[in-house]
Amino acid sequence: MVGNGASEAPGSLVGVIGGGTMGAGIAQLAVQAGHAVAVYDALDGAAARAVEGIGKRLDALAAKGKITTEESEAAKARLSALDGLTGLKDAVLVVEAVIEDLGVKQKLFAELEDVVDADCGLATNTSSLSISAIAAGLRDPGRLVGMHFFNPAPLMPLVEIVEGIATDPARRDAVRAHAEAWGKTTVQCRSTPGFIVNRVARPFYAEALRAYEEQAADFATIDAVVRESGGFKMGPFELVDLIGLDVNLAVSTSVWEATGYDPRYTPAWTQKEYVAAKRLGRKTGRGFHDYGENAAKPAP
Ligand code: NAI
Repeated sequence: MVGNGASEAPGSLVGVIGGGTMGAGIAQLAVQAGHAVAVYDALDGAAARAVEGIGKRLDALAAKGKITTEESEAAKARLSALDGLTGLKDAVLVVEAVIEDLGVKQKLFAELEDVVDADCGLATNTSSLSISAIAAGLRDPGRLVGMHFFNPAPLMPLVEIVEGIATDPARRDAVRAHAEAWGKTTVQCRSTPGFIVNRVARPFYAEALRAYEEQAADFATIDAVVRESGGFKMGPFELVDLIGLDVNLAVSTSVWEATGYDPRYTPAWTQKEYVAAKRLGRKTGRGFHDYGENAAKPAP
């Protein structure tokens, strides 16, 4: 039997691996949907920090009257931080949201397969890596499904449900059922470089960086023009600051490699330089723009 979505909440355990920007958002979403949620992160203290941050966001939602205090307290009580993968033994679904690195994800899923039950769903939030390649290290590669959320995960409506070569359709449908039970709109697609949204969006970032490098205008001007006259919700540099310059660069590099180094997708020197300088965007307080004290502003 394959783990199913709505029927298994409330209370069934969802594991989230990686307590960064996306992992914390996905954990918040799952706990608000009624699941027990356990977060694991390899970095000391990171899972606990993610749980604390989610608690604050739940409190803020209760203070604004968007959820009741009882709902907020109950959700917090269902949330926990783990210091190892073994705590995920009874999970019905595990969503991985660690760094965008094929080797790291492959190793993690191979370890996870030894911990979870055979019917537990395995999903990756990768933005751009091949689902087929991540699954290749599994004894049962059919169980891995791409479950690609957008940032901030509690708010953005779309989830791409991505199939690799080996993905079992029943596993895919089970992961899709979870996303839909959590209130998301899903789109199913094959694992191709960048899937749908990140492939289509690549030129948005790349051309903005080219315009900047050709000295057309500065970051703020390009953002303002695109936002105010182009009808976009955010300018390209503001959006990359929200995503994380490192995460966005990893996706650009992955799409560039996967398309046989198509020059249209060549990662920009400017972005590489900012990443090398650890100006990673909102999460470090400074990226293309400077966020000062708003740096750690939590996602809604
Ligand atoms: P992040 O850098 O905020 O967080 C990554 C977390 O993974 C860190 O806390 C790190 O300590 C942890 N980690 C690294 N290796 C680990 C391991 N082996 N085991 C457990 N934890 C480990 O990254 P972010 O932005 O949350 O991205 C995570 C994934 O989600 C990436 O695959 C990224 O491409 C994808 N993604 C990112 C989006 C964004 O807007 N930032 C949007 C959609 C997908």
